[in-house]
Amino acid sequence: MLRPQLNPSSHTTTTSSSSSTQLFASSSCIASLRRPSSPSSVVAAARRTRGQGSSRVVVVCASSSATASRGDSSSDMAAAAAVRVKAVATIKVTVGELINRSIDIRDLIGRSLSLELVSSELDAKTGKEKATVRSYAHNVDDDDHSVVTYEADFDVPSGFGPLGAIIVTNELRQEMFLEDINLTASDGAGNSTVLPIRCNSWQKRGDGTGEREADDRVYDYDVYNDLGNPDSNGDLARPILGGNKQFPYPRRCRTGRPPSKKDPKSETRKGNVYVPRDEEFSPEKEDYFLRKTVGSVLQAAVPAAQSLLLDKLKWNLPFPSFFVIDKLFEDGVELPGVDKLNFLESVVPRLLEHLRDTPAEKILRFETPANIQKDKFAWLRDEEFARETLAGINPYAIELVREFPLKSKLDPAVYGPAESAITADLLEEQMRRVMTVEEAISQKRLFMLDFHDLFLPYVHKIRSLDHTTMYGSRTIFFLTDDGTLRLLAIELTRPASPSQPQWRQVFTPSTDTTKSWLWRMAKAHVRAHDAGHHELITHWLRTHCAVEPYIIAANRQLSEMHPIYQLLHPHFRYTMRINALARSRLISAAGIIELSFSPQKYSMELSSVAYDKLWRFDMEALPADLVRRGMAEEDPTAEHGLRLAIEDYPFANDGLLIWDAIKTWVQAYVARDAAVQAAYDGFAARLKEIEGVIDGRNKDRKLKNRCGAGILPYQLMKPFSDSGVTGMGIPNSTSI
Ligand SMILES: [Fe+2]
Repeated sequence: MLRPQLNPSSHTTTTSSSSSTQLFASSSCIASLRRPSSPSSVVAAARRTRGQGSSRVVVVCASSSATASRGDSSSDMAAAAAVRVKAVATIKVTVGELINRSIDIRDLIGRSLSLELVSSELDAKTGKEKATVRSYAHNVDDDDHSVVTYEADFDVPSGFGPLGAIIVTNELRQEMFLEDINLTASDGAGNSTVLPIRCNSWQKRGDGTGEREADDRVYDYDVYNDLGNPDSNGDLARPILGGNKQFPYPRRCRTGRPPSKKDPKSETRKGNVYVPRDEEFSPEKEDYFLRKTVGSVLQAAVPAAQSLLLDKLKWNLPFPSFFVIDKLFEDGVELPGVDKLNFLESVVPRLLEHLRDTPAEKILRFETPANIQKDKFAWLRDEEFARETLAGINPYAIELVREFPLKSKLDPAVYGPAESAITADLLEEQMRRVMTVEEAISQKRLFMLDFHDLFLPYVHKIRSLDHTTMYGSRTIFFLTDDGTLRLLAIELTRPASPSQPQWRQVFTPSTDTTKSWLWRMAKAHVRAHDAGHHELITHWLRTHCAVEPYIIAANRQLSEMHPIYQLLHPHFRYTMRINALARSRLISAAGIIELSFSPQKYSMELSSVAYDKLWRFDMEALPADLVRRGMAEEDPTAEHGLRLAIEDYPFANDGLLIWDAIKTWVQAYVARDAAVQAAYDGFAARLKEIEGVIDGRNKDRKLKNRCGAGILPYQLMKPFSDSGVTGMGIPNSTSI
């Protein structure tokens, strides 16, 4: 089905009995676009891409009323006089890089755009389609440089019947964007009827068949079956995510590429990944993306690149010392010639093109992280480790300990004893015996990072890969009297295997040399787990992946004029293109994510496991997520209706301000009350205020999780940000 774009209320009629009125008997129009070579395939805008045949848009006006009038209206029309119809088509000029380059579309219009009126009736004698009425549209002068207007005149013969469709054929060798067509029918007796047809968001839902082409605007669903590349190499085969019980997953936009030979359920990977035309980057966004992404992608790729360049046979040479890591920031990395970076072709081909066009700096300097600039050794300290669970880049994993002893929900027959090795006595010793574990739990003073059940089933699989390792982990924190968290213990677990019994060990801070190094190693493992959780679950799954089906659904079900569509559109914009880039280069087999994170080829599988276990639509909102993790409980008397378990939880405190501001604005908008504009102005003003509140909090010395020597101001939730990767803005909103 297509989305109707005709606004019936603007269908003005000056008389109710003229033949011109009967020509526009339809009360609604739907639009589709088809290619002459493939009449059944429906695409979406009046346009033609280079080297292809002309494209035709079919504006179908055959509504039920028109169909019902078949026969009757034919006889009416037979008696009616010829009708003169003027069509005015508006083409938007600014869309499309071709237009932006050098060609003035106005110069090219002569016999380049044809319009054909199609009757909704068949010929009574032959039973075949009636002849169409065709006319070329001519460019008319106007002062608006962002649109071009064409006009065409038709003499519609008597007996034509109600208008059923308009076929728009673009003969140009460039894309054009048809915004609307306004038809005015006059019968020469002073009667006229206007039929405005809005075309600028014609889309099709798709029926799960056909290969999509770059200029399609078809929104259809598919599973993640294009991450692997089984035809090129068995090692690059990946399971299908979505549509099966083992690996449930959100849907992605269907591209319809041919099936793989070795695994017909997988899709082959070739060329640019299709997204509907409206989801493509604008030329400005494309340029910005390439300029700003070259550096960051190269930085992500350089550790792999260095290894590759040092020794093509060994992909994962470790850094020999911290000193070498420091050198990345101080001296930078000498980039090899572009020709030597050809291996990046498989990862970032467009970036490579960009490098070729740019007189590249030979040295790639890594930007020193701001926190390292402030305090080079902060990351070594337990206090900073704990603080970052509340005010770091992944404040989504910390949760309240609600029962003790800690227990796994996994099958003990497979994974070993369910009960954790972290004992009450061990924790009480680390708490310096100020209270018992029981008291600490009842006072909500114990918290944890629980990466046990999620990772444990993958430990042996990941360990069987080269150059990586994995454990399940649990990390316990104590909320001290000054409102900060103290690290108490880390448990690492390797489950039983057919050849080995379960191994697990609890590590604690220590002044003993060996134990203190083991403690640091244990922290490093948890850091790796947390980084994986952030990238694979918090970022990819919750921010990018889980949003895509909503974008597809909104486009399939809602008119572009629908208020909810308009509300959501700025938030959806570019997400599908970014996700498609991710599927092709980042999360794909041997892509940057697999190269950079410990689970390697199991990275995306793990995000599917997390989707299965953790993702729930009604729990993804910030307040619900805080309650789910025990970090807040509902309290109607408290600000935002929530009482936080940790008073100074910067992510929650700042996030709830934003949440409330958005909620107030959206409620007013959805209610469609008369004060929508005032509500929006209030929303914008509130966000400005919130920025001030956040700045104020960052100067409050009492808030030790966000303020102090060597601590960067907590700005993750600041609503306004300069462009680029600034570490500010609203989490779970997709910009890149
Ligand atoms: Fe992102």
